[in-house]
Amino acid sequence: MQSVLFVCLGNICRSPLAQGIFEHELKKQGLDSQFDADSAGTSGWHEGEPPHKGSIAIAKKYGISIERQKSRPVHAKDGELFDYILAMDNQNRASLLDEFRFPTNKIHLMRDFSREVPLQKGLAVPDPWGKGGEAFEEVFAILEDAVQGFIELLKNRTSL
Ligand code: 4NP
Repeated sequence: MQSVLFVCLGNICRSPLAQGIFEHELKKQGLDSQFDADSAGTSGWHEGEPPHKGSIAIAKKYGISIERQKSRPVHAKDGELFDYILAMDNQNRASLLDEFRFPTNKIHLMRDFSREVPLQKGLAVPDPWGKGGEAFEEVFAILEDAVQGFIELLKNRTSL
């Protein structure tokens, strides 16, 4: 069993959606017994809260249920517990490296797995917080593409 942690700032908009899409895709591909997923925020500002209503709504539109997730901050032990730690943007990535001191080789930028623009590295999954439904629609499309690319990589690495 390999484990994946999705990380954003508040753990209410982007990373819960990334986790939900990842788990949904794993199930669809019959891989859900091989990987474990969780999500967390570099801040604890929304600890204990369910995902943002915009993320819940866009997930639901595509048949994915994320409303039972609860926001939690990143914990010091996550750096040891998880095999892959996927940051939504460069600020999250910098926090994981500089503040939490997680191993560099475990930390990746979510969007670097995108299949849509595979040659363009370093792009952020844009923060939809405080924006309307269109922003959540855009984030969903970006995440779905990047999650597919990430699963392809996992399949190759573990030769499933
Ligand atoms: P997230 O979005 O990092 O994708 O969960 C945000 C949620 C809350 C805040 C910022 C971003 N905030 O400032 O409270």
